[in-house]
Formats: sequence, structure tokens, C-alpha cells
Amino acid sequence: MIFKDKEEYVSRIGGTLITAEQITAAVKECAEKIDGIYDGRPLLMIGVLNGAAMFVSELMKHISVPCELEFIQAKSYYDSTESSGEVKLTREIERDISGYHVLLAEDIIDTGRTLCKVKALLESKDPLSVTTITLLDKPERRLVDFTPDISLFTIEDVFVIGFGLDCAGYYRNLPFIAEYKE
Ligand code: IMP
Ligand code: MG
Repeated sequence: MIFKDKEEYVSRIGGTLITAEQITAAVKECAEKIDGIYDGRPLLMIGVLNGAAMFVSELMKHISVPCELEFIQAKSYYDSTESSGEVKLTREIERDISGYHVLLAEDIIDTGRTLCKVKALLESKDPLSVTTITLLDKPERRLVDFTPDISLFTIEDVFVIGFGLDCAGYYRNLPFIAEYKE
């Protein structure tokens, strides 16, 4: 554990940027948009583990077009708040995705490297389409040219935790998004 005790763990949770209620409202609105885009056509949701797990779960609940779920895992952040620069795929999609409309879901886009790499990988597998969606976007931090098709919240250049987002593996279970206090 990176904290000496629970008090220190709690003390690092900064101000709330986005409340649980705001997340739910935005996700519901976004699910309606997705229903409209796919217009009854089945979609294959692919979440990027571990961060997108909560976002994907919440989003799936409100989508009404036929929807399947898969996960891929990419790692770029290790035990710090800085990107290592290298993106590793630690879990691949095993099924054939050709013939599917893919909705690739991420928790946050920072430098853009992860989603850029994962999107290219999925596109090489010949799906009908790949649409990218992110809960949070930090456009100021971008190092590669990448714009998500759908973004729920744009935030400033601060390190955030909660609703799937972690710092060294902790805080993913917070139901809201807060700033991380170094
Ligand atoms: P990118 O490849 O730099 O776009 O980074 C994307 C990944 O970095 C995300 O999937 C997150 O896991 C992680 N990340 C980026 N910014 C934050 C943050 O503010 N809090 C927690 N994780 C973050
Ligand atoms: Mg992530």
C-alpha cells in the first residue's frame, strides 16, 4: 500500500470535480445518443481495463440496442501519476470482431497514446466500424493527434481519481470523480 494508514488515504482525496449524479445524468444522455447512432444495429462494446470497467457497466445499463461486451487491457501508468510513454496490451480480444460495430470505451484520454494504439489494433481486425467513447478527456495533455468520437466530460490538466480511475490501484471505487492531492 502506498499510504501509511487510512487517514492518509482519505487525505489524498481532493475536491469533487464531477458528482455521482452528474455522471449518471451524462451517461444516460449519452446512452440515448448511442441508441440513436446504432439505430437498432447490434454493437460490440469493448472496454479498456481496468479504468473503464465502471463506466462501461454504467453505460451498458442504459443502452437499449442489442449490445455485447468484451474487454481489452492496456497498461501505460504504473505506480505514479505520470505516463511511462509506453503502452502495453496485457489482454487481447480473442473473438473475431469482423462484422461488428465496435464501441471502444475508455475512462480518460490523456496523452492519447492508449486509445490511438487500441483503436488501430481493433481496426486491423476488420470490424464494420470503430467508434471511440471516453468518460473524461484532458485535451491539454495530448501528445498524439487523437480525438474521441464521444466524450462526456472535458477536464483541465489535473490528475483525477474515482469512478474507475485510480492512483496506484486505489480509489477506483469512489462513486464520483475527485482531484488527487499529491
Ligand atoms: P493516455 O494513453 O496517456 O491517453 O492515457 C490513458 C490512460 O492513462 C487512461 O486509461 C488512464 O488509465 C490513465 N490516466 C490518465 N490520466 C489519468 C488521471 O487523471 N487519473 C487516473 N488515470 C489516468
Ligand atoms: Mg485506463
